Amino acid sequence: MRVGITGTPGTGKSTVAEILARKLNLPLFNLSRLVREEGLYTSYDEEREAYEVEPEKLRKFFEGKEDFIAEGLVAHYIPVDYLVILRASPETVKERLKERPYSEEKINENAEAERFAVIATEALENPLFKKVIHIDTTNRSPEEVAKLIEEAIRKGEELFEEIDWLE
Ligand SMILES: Nc1ncnc2c1ncn2[C@@H]1O[C@H](COP(=O)(O)OP(=O)(O)O)[C@@H](O)[C@H]1O
Ligand SMILES: [Mg+2]
Repeated sequence: MRVGITGTPGTGKSTVAEILARKLNLPLFNLSRLVREEGLYTSYDEEREAYEVEPEKLRKFFEGKEDFIAEGLVAHYIPVDYLVILRASPETVKERLKERPYSEEKINENAEAERFAVIATEALENPLFKKVIHIDTTNRSPEEVAKLIEEAIRKGEELFEEIDWLE
């Protein structure tokens, strides 16, 4: 089973992925670490303080791998059986990111990206997944989120919640 988990920073990708990897007994890859360690990037973006991923190299790394969970902002570049898109209200994103050494500007940028569904839209417009799970984590614990995902995957079902922070 190939599972990707994407979402705006603060939606809970890393937390949920760890629980899910244990439940499904799948090896877990954190994509920002993988991209850095395996050199799957074109350059370093000083302003964003992040590596610019090279999608082709990322795909090559996962080519032939049948069982994994890959979690990170760039997960939608990898062909998978399930792509999980985590969402959280912009206010929740801000709250959750406050614990990080991020500038206020960076926190607000992420909250606004979530408000306008930037990550979700990009993933849904360039689908490399067979099935999709799109869920709101705002009022759910990481355990509840992981359980919902696990149940859908075990049943082979999709789960798509309508989420629009602009309404
Ligand atoms: N469903 C949730 N409910 C409450 N807090 C959460 C939830 N998911 C994650 N968190 C908390 O939010 C913060 C960001 O979660 P993290 O998994 O690092 O997000 P991401 O990997 O998407 O950036 C962490 O402090 C984590 O404990
Ligand atoms: Mg993370």
